[in-house]
Amino acid sequence: MLNLGILISGQGSNMEAILKSIKSKKIHINPAIVISNKSDVRGIKIAQKLGIKTEIIQSKNFKGSRSDYDKKIISTLEKYGVTPKNGLVCLAGFMRIISPEFVKKYKNRIINIHPALLPAFPGLDAQKQAIKYGAKYSGCTVHFVDSGVDTGAIILQSIVKIRKGETEKTLSKLILKKEHETYSKAIKLFTENKIKISGRKTIII
Ligand code: GRF
Repeated sequence: MLNLGILISGQGSNMEAILKSIKSKKIHINPAIVISNKSDVRGIKIAQKLGIKTEIIQSKNFKGSRSDYDKKIISTLEKYGVTPKNGLVCLAGFMRIISPEFVKKYKNRIINIHPALLPAFPGLDAQKQAIKYGAKYSGCTVHFVDSGVDTGAIILQSIVKIRKGETEKTLSKLILKKEHETYSKAIKLFTENKIKISGRKTIII
């Protein structure tokens, strides 16, 4: 069975949804480790409550480069069996850009969720960007992580209609609900070896 490492920075609701899908046996993967770059976040408490091992690797005041920081993440992942051969790394609200070295080492084994329909509205505050732009629909995207920001091959997307009077807060809530379903579906596809990568496209078998 594959070993899963989840990287978080905050509330961890996507992480929680993934862990619950694993517990209820909808996804077959070993939830090996949850790593946060911040201490005292809700996500860590939830993971512990669910009986999952956790590690904090503080990024604030970290002395060293991005790649030095990521080396710590990589050695922690490996310690729990989340290796480039036998692991999957899910970024779930992990608010850091990862180094090219990390991406290269775990090629096509790191996935992320973004709260917009990429390539629209990449980067921070995607929900706010969609509202400001006047988009009629937004949603979420699960994609492989490459060396760009939110640019990797798309695995799955789900759509949300932007209603009259929608605010960043109400849209975020709607999208988050979709994120929870979509992320678990994408992980399930990965574990079943149903995602083939062809150039910058994925083909779902
Ligand atoms: C989600 O909207 C995710 O798409 C974005 O950050 C938010 C994290 O939420 N990258 P949570 O920590 O999973 O609750």
